[in-house]
Amino acid sequence: MRDKIVAGNWKMNNNQFQTKELLNSIKSFEIPNDVRVMVAPAFTQLSQSNEILSNTSITVVAQNINAAVSGAYTGEISADMLKGIEVTTTLIGHSERRAIFRETDSIIKEKVKAALDADMEVIFCFGEQLADRKSNNHFKVVARQLETALFDLPETQWKRIILAYEPVWAIGTGETASPKQAQEMHKYIRNLIIENYNQKIAEDVAILYGGSVKPNNAREIFSGKDVDGGLIGGASLKAADFIEIVSSF
Ligand code: PGA
Repeated sequence: MRDKIVAGNWKMNNNQFQTKELLNSIKSFEIPNDVRVMVAPAFTQLSQSNEILSNTSITVVAQNINAAVSGAYTGEISADMLKGIEVTTTLIGHSERRAIFRETDSIIKEKVKAALDADMEVIFCFGEQLADRKSNNHFKVVARQLETALFDLPETQWKRIILAYEPVWAIGTGETASPKQAQEMHKYIRNLIIENYNQKIAEDVAILYGGSVKPNNAREIFSGKDVDGGLIGGASLKAADFIEIVSSF
């Protein structure tokens, strides 16, 4: 059976003092046993976060990696470096990486490969733009993103993939996909995996929804049969809100 997962993507927020305060506050709440909780602080706070969370089951996640193993890539961080500080899960393909840092589907594909080659777990983010949805191309766009980056992976690698469907028009905008739109897309994604792989892989992969998930809408969104949790931006920066979302299944 697949996991229920709630992951907080802190983006470029929280210095070491704020990180300490937020994580200690998260730790002070009771976390349901059947939900896997993750947080993705900035690179500079990863070691500190691992230390603070060492006596918990919360997973510390990187927000990005570089596809190269090492070399002349000023300012970049490799999978190996992350593993060296015991960070074994990374986001890849977040819409801000795609839009602001011009990461194409093929760059993202290389990153996925690099992470999996290093035995890391990947939270693969993807989703359509508003124009795609308005022109009724959202299914096609999502299919292409998944096909390019994931659908030639060997079956065995899928154990280390978590999907995060994030319609770009819902990220940080306060606008969410309706629970019906989310469920419809998640079901479509699961069917794509059945077509390209098999029922077992499709049933086992967790598909998270991301885009303005808040305490007041999480329960309804997570009630979708194919919605296995959320990737949370803004609302992950307040412990009480984050935990309320974690407790919304
Ligand atoms: P948001 O961000 O919850 O602030 O919309 C989600 C994300 O970017 O992963």
